[in-house]
Amino acid sequence: MVINALIAASLALTSTTAPATAQATVDCSRVKCLALTFDDGPGEHTPTLLKLLKKEGVKATFFLVGRQVVKHPEIAKRTLAEGHAIGNHTYSHASLPTRLDDEILEELKVNQEVIEKATGYRPTMYRPPYGSTDARVLNLANQVDLAEILWTGTTLDWSLKDAAKIKAAALKLAKRDGAILMHDTEPGTVKAMPEIIKELKKRGYHLVTVPTLLRGKGPAAGKSYFKR
Ligand code: NI
Repeated sequence: MVINALIAASLALTSTTAPATAQATVDCSRVKCLALTFDDGPGEHTPTLLKLLKKEGVKATFFLVGRQVVKHPEIAKRTLAEGHAIGNHTYSHASLPTRLDDEILEELKVNQEVIEKATGYRPTMYRPPYGSTDARVLNLANQVDLAEILWTGTTLDWSLKDAAKIKAAALKLAKRDGAILMHDTEPGTVKAMPEIIKELKKRGYHLVTVPTLLRGKGPAAGKSYFKR
């Protein structure tokens, strides 16, 4: 009886702490969806962003740099646990087309290991640093079972710095089925997020992860999404 009660209690706990399941019910072919994506973390500002996303019930996608995951493994783990999607952004933020095949594979594979060690999850998608890619890079990513995720618009937040300017840039780029590139390493971006989210919700957007945006038809290894 005691064991049954314990099982019942743990099941109840599981069902109330699974925000990722709720996200899966968003059907982007029926409602207006947009994916907010954050690159280069985890970093010192990521927890502030995670707290806000949780409060707002917003799911996002984070492309993690391996050398940052090594520094902040607990933030990487928390990001996934809170229902966000995570992807590979190479180990050292390398511009891949300038590298040899073995070096590219190493950048991707080592980061897969690092992320899996920190979170227990092996990513199925990657984003090439600087958006620099070509057919050779895409083919090598396919060998590591990774889909390539680019973006429909970049805020250039790393250059703008100012929160009001970043907000204006993000809102201008917002469009149905879009994927907006930002950086959780930029304090101005994290500062601008409450107002960005408020305005996007007002415009009727459902803020979802990249896999949710792809409606279950991806990400598929070796395929490139949001090609500009
Ligand atoms: Ni980057």
